[in-house]
Amino acid sequence: MKHLLSIDELNEADLREVLRITPSFAEVAQRRIAKVPALRGQTVALLFYEDSTRTRLSFEIAAKRLSADTLNVSVKTSSVNKGESLRDTAETIEAMGIDAVVVRHRSSGVPLQLTKWLDASVINAGDGWHQHPTQALLDCFTLQQKLGDLAGSHIVMVGDIKHSRVARSDVRAFTMLGAEVTLVAPPTLMPPAIETWPVRTSHDLDATLADADAVYLLRMQSERQNEALVPDLREYTTLYGLTAERSARLDPTVPIMHPGPMNRGVEIAADVPDLDQVVVVDQVRNGVAVRMAVLFMLLGSGSGDVPTAATIPSNAPAGAGR
Ligand code: NCD
Repeated sequence: MKHLLSIDELNEADLREVLRITPSFAEVAQRRIAKVPALRGQTVALLFYEDSTRTRLSFEIAAKRLSADTLNVSVKTSSVNKGESLRDTAETIEAMGIDAVVVRHRSSGVPLQLTKWLDASVINAGDGWHQHPTQALLDCFTLQQKLGDLAGSHIVMVGDIKHSRVARSDVRAFTMLGAEVTLVAPPTLMPPAIETWPVRTSHDLDATLADADAVYLLRMQSERQNEALVPDLREYTTLYGLTAERSARLDPTVPIMHPGPMNRGVEIAADVPDLDQVVVVDQVRNGVAVRMAVLFMLLGSGSGDVPTAATIPSNAPAGAGR
C-alpha cells in the first residue's frame, strides 16, 4: 500500500491489520523516551488547506514519534487558486525531498489528484464531504477497546450526515467489521442516495438510542452548508441533540463519541462531555497511535511487511515506563 485515500481501498483484512498493530504504537507513547527510529531520515509534509487542530497535530506527533521530520504547510483555503496553484505548491514541497504528504482540502478528490502529480505517498486527512480514513480507523480502534469485537453491535450516528466525511468513512469501516449502523438526522441533513448506504435510517433519536451499543455525534457543519438546512438550532438540539435527559437514559456502558470539534449546546449539551462514558479523549489519544501505524505501513518497511511489536525498532529498553 502506497497511499491512504479512502476506507474503500481497504478490505476487512487490511482494516483488522491496522487495528492489530496499533497497540504496539500506543505502547511507544508510554515509554520514557516516546520515540522510535522507524522513519528516521524521512520527511512528512502536512499540507492543510482547511482548519484543523487535532488532525494536524495528531499526524505531526505521530510522525515525530517515529523520528520522521515534519514540514508544516498551513494554507488558508481562501488564498488558494485550485488546479495549478495546488499542483505548484505540491511540486515545490516535493522538490525539497519529502516522502509523504498528509493533505486536508475542502474539495473531494484532491488527495487522489496529488497521487498523479507526486511520487510521495499521499494520506488523506479529510477531503470535502468525501473521506477521512484515519478518523474511521481511530474510531474503530476506540470502539473495539470499549465494546470488544464490533460484529453484531449497534452503532447510532446522529447529526449532519450529509456533509460528513467522517460518516462516509466510519459507516464503511464499522460495517466492514460487522457492526450495524443506524443514521439519525433530519431529512435535510441526510445525504442523497442514502438508500444505497449499508445502514438503517431514522428521524427518531429516542427510539434509536434505546438499543444502541454506542452513540456517535457529528458536528453541525455550518461551514459546508450553503443554505439553512435546519430552521432553528434550538429545535435541532431538542430533536437530535444529546441532551442531559437523553444521556441520562443511556446505559453508562454505552460509549459516547465525537470526532471534535464539539459544539457544546448544539449536538451535545454543555455538560454531557464531562460524563465518564464520553470517550472523546480516548479517540484523540488513539488517533496518534493509529496514525503512527498508518505512517509505518506506508513508509516503514517499503516491502509491505507486516510490522509487529517485535519488528518495530526500539531505542528504549522494553517496558521502560514513565
Ligand atoms: C472532523 C473533520 O474535520 O472532518 N474533525 C476531525 O477531523 N476530527 C469533523 C468535523 O469537522 O466536524
